[in-house]
Amino acid sequence: MGTAHPPWDVVVLGAGAAGLYAGIEAARRGRRCLVIDGARKPGEKIRISGGGRCNVTNLNVARATIPERFLSRNPRFALSALSRHTARDFLARFEAAGLSWTEKALGQLFCATFARDVVAWLVRDLAAAGATLRLGTVVHGVEGAGPFTVRTDGGDMAAARVIVATGGLSIPKMGATDIGYRIARAHGVPLTDTRPALVPLTFAGAPLEEMAALAGTAVEGAVACGRARFRDGLLFTHRGLSGPSVLQASSYWREGEAVAIDLAAGAEVGASLAAERRRAGRVAPATALARLVPERVARAAVARAGLRGTLADQGNAALARLNAAVHDWQVVPQGTEGYRTAEVTLGGVDTDALDPRTMEARAVPGLHFVGEVVDVTGWLGGYNFQWAWSSGWVAGQSV
Ligand code: FDA
Repeated sequence: MGTAHPPWDVVVLGAGAAGLYAGIEAARRGRRCLVIDGARKPGEKIRISGGGRCNVTNLNVARATIPERFLSRNPRFALSALSRHTARDFLARFEAAGLSWTEKALGQLFCATFARDVVAWLVRDLAAAGATLRLGTVVHGVEGAGPFTVRTDGGDMAAARVIVATGGLSIPKMGATDIGYRIARAHGVPLTDTRPALVPLTFAGAPLEEMAALAGTAVEGAVACGRARFRDGLLFTHRGLSGPSVLQASSYWREGEAVAIDLAAGAEVGASLAAERRRAGRVAPATALARLVPERVARAAVARAGLRGTLADQGNAALARLNAAVHDWQVVPQGTEGYRTAEVTLGGVDTDALDPRTMEARAVPGLHFVGEVVDVTGWLGGYNFQWAWSSGWVAGQSV
């Protein structure tokens, strides 16, 4: 197939959060800009995010928190983009478009109406800026070195510059592909290992039996993995554990490692039960514990700790065992639910190969990578969209 003429100034691959935002910036700066996506609708992940409300950003994205909350081989890489287009900058645009937000816990800002309104706004701004959006067009590769040839199933396109915003591998059912990594590899841009993140953990054997029996029960729990600890609640599932603390910890977990589950974060089970033993020793341990955790969880913990009889029958060692069974349940996950349900992909285009001010590949002038395809992965709670907005913005400013 022949190459289209004249060449585009910029072709953006992927009409997700990062690609739409980058396209808007590039087009506003007068660039002839084409945004391509293989899906039939743009911004599908925005639409389904946050339970249909889209957690658009987080107020706690700040210089001091960025190296901790954006995982990357180079934890300082994201500072530049996130400081140049901040959560406040994003919100100013969001509000100017007539959208409003509500704050949930931990600085998480959700769209006050529907996630689809966020998509509609971005698509509207992209058109108003003069960019062209071409959907249902699958990208197969990028060749050349400025001008580039973008190979698609709808023909070839010539571009002075290319912004790769094709996301990660999570939720293949929604059109996730590895094209961004393949483009990087083809141009000699290195990658770090990729793995599913913000994903439920799966278990086998005795822990799974206990978890599956509690499926659907949520507790105000915490999960620790190495030095990372999250206290945002957890949920038992038929395959193991989910809920915010677990999803967060999954980004830190590696095969074979144990995680420490606290089923009653904030409570002091040992001290409470010792006091209860003095006060009303005839009560069953599970009944006393059920004041601190859901009853089914209490029974399971008592069984695991091997306690029999009333509270009065328990010595200090038995109460210490129960305390540990609740506050420090050490379990080794079998794995994760994988890309099928992972919210994001950890790893990707190696940040050492990119200029943090422009997201351009240092060795390939004119080839930029933004959003999730890059080895920058945020915490749960709006951090990943903020990375998409900020990295898209800086690339759009520089092309
Ligand atoms: P994104 O994946 O959004 O876009 C990539 C685009 O490239 C897609 O439109 C895809 O169709 C296209 N593409 C891929 N391969 C192609 C090919 N070969 N040819 C053409 N096009 C191709 N984050 C957050 O901050 N707050 C939240 O509330 C949530 N909630 C959430 C829920 C769920 C269920 C998931 C799966 C994820 C989230 N996230 C989130 C994470 C967030 O959705 C994610 O980090 C961003 O969408 C990443 O934006 P990108 O633009 O980089 O990729």
